[in-house]
Amino acid sequence: MHNEAFQEIIEYRRSNRKFDPQIEVPEAVMQRSLERATLAPNSSNMQLWEFHWIHDRKMIEEFVPLCLGQSAAKTAKELVVFVTRRDLYRQRARWNRAQILNHTGKREPSVFEKNGMDYYGKVMPLLYGRDIFGIHTLIRSSVCFFGGLFKPFMRFSGRTDQRIMVHKSCALAAQTFMLSIAAEGFHTCPMEGFDKWRVRRKLGLPWGAEINMIIAVGKGTEAGIWGPRFRVANSEVIFKY
Ligand SMILES: Cc1cc2nc3c(=O)[nH]c(=O)nc-3n(C[C@H](O)[C@H](O)[C@H](O)COP(=O)(O)O)c2cc1C
Repeated sequence: MHNEAFQEIIEYRRSNRKFDPQIEVPEAVMQRSLERATLAPNSSNMQLWEFHWIHDRKMIEEFVPLCLGQSAAKTAKELVVFVTRRDLYRQRARWNRAQILNHTGKREPSVFEKNGMDYYGKVMPLLYGRDIFGIHTLIRSSVCFFGGLFKPFMRFSGRTDQRIMVHKSCALAAQTFMLSIAAEGFHTCPMEGFDKWRVRRKLGLPWGAEINMIIAVGKGTEAGIWGPRFRVANSEVIFKY
């Protein structure tokens, strides 16, 4: 289908740490790429993510020290902070349930749709719920232990599993965004070198939000590529059974 174009985009995307000061990124490129990011696959379609696009020059400058003075941030024309929002799970579960109901309209829901409504009404609150006494975790651990004694069962219990779940999906959105920016002829640098507490405070995010990564965007330069693209041998990472 679009095999060659895709290969080209994959090869074009490099982490670039020095963006051309003369070239701006068109607003439409950013908008399109962020909208494409929302189409990334994500766990149970819960979309527990937010993309905070920082375009304002002054605000980008305020972000430079928060990104530990990295050159990608210093020279960025745009920044996007990818944020996980586990705390919005009730809202998103209700939203998904409402989509199914909407789709059903006045007719009787099918078994498939009923299961979907139960999934968002009952399973999601159990999966994402937390409490200070660890009761949710205890229930999940017990369900997984006994449910999985004699058959395969999803192993999911505590806060770490919940955090991994939302970060996985958010990172897929970030990658979709980076590939889109590459397809548009611009460059990115994903960053995890930042002060997560200060970034959260700067954006006025609640305690339940976590910063997944910050992506610097601009027109890359040759100086911004720090070296050839080294990867370990395929035989060390690709296993066929
Ligand atoms: C989650 C994540 C965090 C990263 N953090 C940083 C960072 O803080 N600073 C930086 O210069 N590069 C960062 N990188 C870029 C990697 O160093 C880069 O992707 C890797 O060396 C491979 O090079 P390539 O992206 O050009 O293929 C990060 C990449 C990822 C995926």
